[in-house]
Amino acid sequence: MNHELILILDFDGKYNQMVAKKVRASNVYCEVNAYDTPVEKIKNKEAKGIIITGDSNNINKKELDSLIKELTTGMSVPILLVIKDFNDDIAGVEKMNAELIHQAEGVQRINQFLFDQCACSGDWNMNDFAKQSIESLKEKIGNKKVLCALSGGVDSSVSAVLVHKAVGKQLTCIFVDTGLMRKNERIEVEKVFREQFDINLICVDAGDRFLGKLKGVTDPERKRKIIGEEFIRVFEEEAKKIGAVDFLVQGTIYPDIIESGSKNTAVIKSHHNVGGLPDVIDFKEILEPLRDLFKDEVRNLGRVLGIPEFLVERQPFPGPGLGVRIIGEITKEKVAILQEADYIFRDEIAKANLNKDISQYFAILTNLRSVGVSGDERTYNYVVALRAICTTDFMNADWARIPYEVLEKASSRIVNEVEHVNRVVYDITPKPPATIEWE
Ligand code: XMP
Repeated sequence: MNHELILILDFDGKYNQMVAKKVRASNVYCEVNAYDTPVEKIKNKEAKGIIITGDSNNINKKELDSLIKELTTGMSVPILLVIKDFNDDIAGVEKMNAELIHQAEGVQRINQFLFDQCACSGDWNMNDFAKQSIESLKEKIGNKKVLCALSGGVDSSVSAVLVHKAVGKQLTCIFVDTGLMRKNERIEVEKVFREQFDINLICVDAGDRFLGKLKGVTDPERKRKIIGEEFIRVFEEEAKKIGAVDFLVQGTIYPDIIESGSKNTAVIKSHHNVGGLPDVIDFKEILEPLRDLFKDEVRNLGRVLGIPEFLVERQPFPGPGLGVRIIGEITKEKVAILQEADYIFRDEIAKANLNKDISQYFAILTNLRSVGVSGDERTYNYVVALRAICTTDFMNADWARIPYEVLEKASSRIVNEVEHVNRVVYDITPKPPATIEWE
């Protein structure tokens, strides 16, 4: 695909993605490369401009000087330094404090660089990207067969629809219902993919299998491992029924593969559910149609493709599903309790219009029972915990300051509508020290 290109050369990992997202948000395509990418390779990319990102602690001026000298030898390309706490001046090169990237002033400065200095026209938009991707997928796949592990998450959903638009029924999607999904999840997936898009979808009802394997298991790591392994086994069996395929679709996105100064190697998506699949599926090549996109761009692409908003805007959901939100042994009864409680909490958050402000929110079924009272009767029932967090990167997170009235409504509905629950607590711990999930 031929787009105007801005190259970001990165000296450390903190600012490159923020800068790249701002550039893309201005409809200019950009790529992040490590600062020590061979100069020849950089020159061959014929970028309209170069942005160097980093923190002054990670840069010594000599290294930067010689990089810029090399870049400007025999090539005239505008360069902008977006570096934190960098006071030195480098002749002929403009600079901006990296911290400004969070403010309107910084965005304005980036735009001035893109459109005035580099003379970009802003030719990067999702409609074109969708059209061009579909065309090139058509060409690449020809009349061959494609397989996709559909989880119902944003990345696999958008990948599947994109490939489907290119080759229709040559694509088969497999959705494994582990029995550990949220309430109605499988029905929603079937509705969108089968009814709306008419995609070849195989839904595997494997709940009992997973619960069988998990019987008596309480250790969180064991649970994760069992669920991951069983997923691969179920998928493998289904794929065998289809026979050999030519391509396997993977929902890798740009942050999964981005190169940066400090982390120079490409990182392959480590989502545990898809992680082991390439080893057990008989296929020739992996297709990664989203590998150039940031998460927000994937969501936009999903909208362009007509995927419903509830799917495009979905919050992250762990591969092991409710398995890591039921503390202690997992049973069918516990799954049902948690599905109901979680559904009510999400419903109340949505009704209060808080879903856009909170990054992730869900219920946990603790392994604790406590004494309560119902009418004249003493009860001894489960404690449900509610978790809601705000974060940008999921590495650090703060608990969401949900209004008391919303918590009150959720709590009272849960104890009234869900059997075997007589107490609801709200988790007010940031990450760190707590993780977002409880297991
Ligand atoms: P923690 O709990 O480690 O979670 O703070 C950080 C983010 O990752 C999600 N998460 C997972 N996602 N497979 C996934 O695809 C997993 O096994 C998994 N475990 C945690 C978690 O929901 C949060 O968004």
